[in-house]
Amino acid sequence: MRKAPVAMVVLALAACHGAPPAPPLTEAQSAARRPADAHLAALYDGSCRACHTTRDSGAPLSGDHAQWDARWAKGAPVLLQSAVAGYNKMPAGGQCATCTAHDYEALIRFMADQQN
Ligand code: HEC
Repeated sequence: MRKAPVAMVVLALAACHGAPPAPPLTEAQSAARRPADAHLAALYDGSCRACHTTRDSGAPLSGDHAQWDARWAKGAPVLLQSAVAGYNKMPAGGQCATCTAHDYEALIRFMADQQN
């Protein structure tokens, strides 16, 4: 049997890492997303949405796996801590005066598109 060319071996190894990275969302695609739950949607519209659908804010766009997957990998408790205590230009509390820890967790899950 002929040996496989190196390029094929490299491709095969790359395939082991799973699906190719998701393409980034546009701002319009990000802005079109809304939490299904009415309570959560109201909180989202009044706070997270302004920054997290605007690339210039420096915030990871809502629903954009290209920007959220590495953050999601830090774990829900770390992300909750970032939302509550702030993280660089992410303001403490995310400009939500009434969000509970449960709300923050759900909002983060929604923005990271990890609904399962
Ligand atoms: C004023 C703008 C602004 C608002 C409002 C805002 N964020 Fe952010 N957020 C940011 C920015 C900027 C970052 C990126 C910070 C960085 O990585 O340096 C960020 C990052 C995050 C992160 C990732 C933190 C990490 O550890 O990687 C989480 C989680 C987050 N925001 C949650 C929220 C939630 C939940 C809301 C609404 C309740 C919200 N944000 C509202 C600007 C905002």
